Amino acid sequence: MTTIADLRREHQILASLMASLSISEQASPKEAERTRQNLVLFARHVTEHFAHEDPVLAELTMAPVGTAMRSAGDARLRESQSLAEGCASFSRYWSPPGAIERDPKSFGSALGILQAAVTRLIRREETEVYPLAVTGWAPQPVVAPPLTGVTELDDDHVEIFSMIGGLRAIVDDRQSTVDGPRVASLAVYAERHFAREEAIMEATAYPGLEDHRQEHHRARAILMGFRNDYLDGRRIDAVTVLKFLESWLSSHIADVDQRMVAHLRSSGSGHIQ
Ligand SMILES: [Fe+2]
Ligand SMILES: [Fe+2]
Ligand SMILES: [Fe+2]
Repeated sequence: MTTIADLRREHQILASLMASLSISEQASPKEAERTRQNLVLFARHVTEHFAHEDPVLAELTMAPVGTAMRSAGDARLRESQSLAEGCASFSRYWSPPGAIERDPKSFGSALGILQAAVTRLIRREETEVYPLAVTGWAPQPVVAPPLTGVTELDDDHVEIFSMIGGLRAIVDDRQSTVDGPRVASLAVYAERHFAREEAIMEATAYPGLEDHRQEHHRARAILMGFRNDYLDGRRIDAVTVLKFLESWLSSHIADVDQRMVAHLRSSGSGHIQ
């Protein structure tokens, strides 16, 4: 049976196969042919990966509507279907012999779009979806949130991480469920923080605002799902909430938030201390 560790390994293989597709605009026919063969291999691995992954994640799309699991599963399914179609049409178009050589420039720009989409989906799966699906989880070392240099946001991040510390204590105490008020206060706090970041991004005309907002939306939907679980009388599994928050937040703060901070820095925004 495919495990989450197998799926993570497949993600690494996909990432390195994708990197092998980059080609210079003056590529020789031999180079173009090698890229074409790598493309055929890449397309096969993508198809196999989804075939392995779909059954592992199927339980998420069968969870009751409105739950955290269901919203993560539905979002992943939508994105993986559109990515599978994108990969299939990309390889159909570029894998006939001679196609890449004829127009390496267009190949390069189409590849850039595909690479960005694959990288995005892999990150989402690993930070938002897998934590809700995995069984047999072991605690990870507590990670301090990377500093952004914006005092109000750093204070928020530290506060959210201390809430995570509280959840960890519950799990370490071998309690298996989280109480609703704790999840509700986490959701409220995260919401305030997201609003604060979005206001800063709007005020500084950050070009990545929409993407960043989308990332927040997905986390909101999952946090709301946990809250709905509580309101509907379902048990909220402490390990699941902890896994999701740890993976999502550490990746979001280290990557998406840092990109926003780079913009604040380069635009000379007064938010950076
Ligand atoms: Fe995947
Ligand atoms: Fe943040
Ligand atoms: Fe953020």
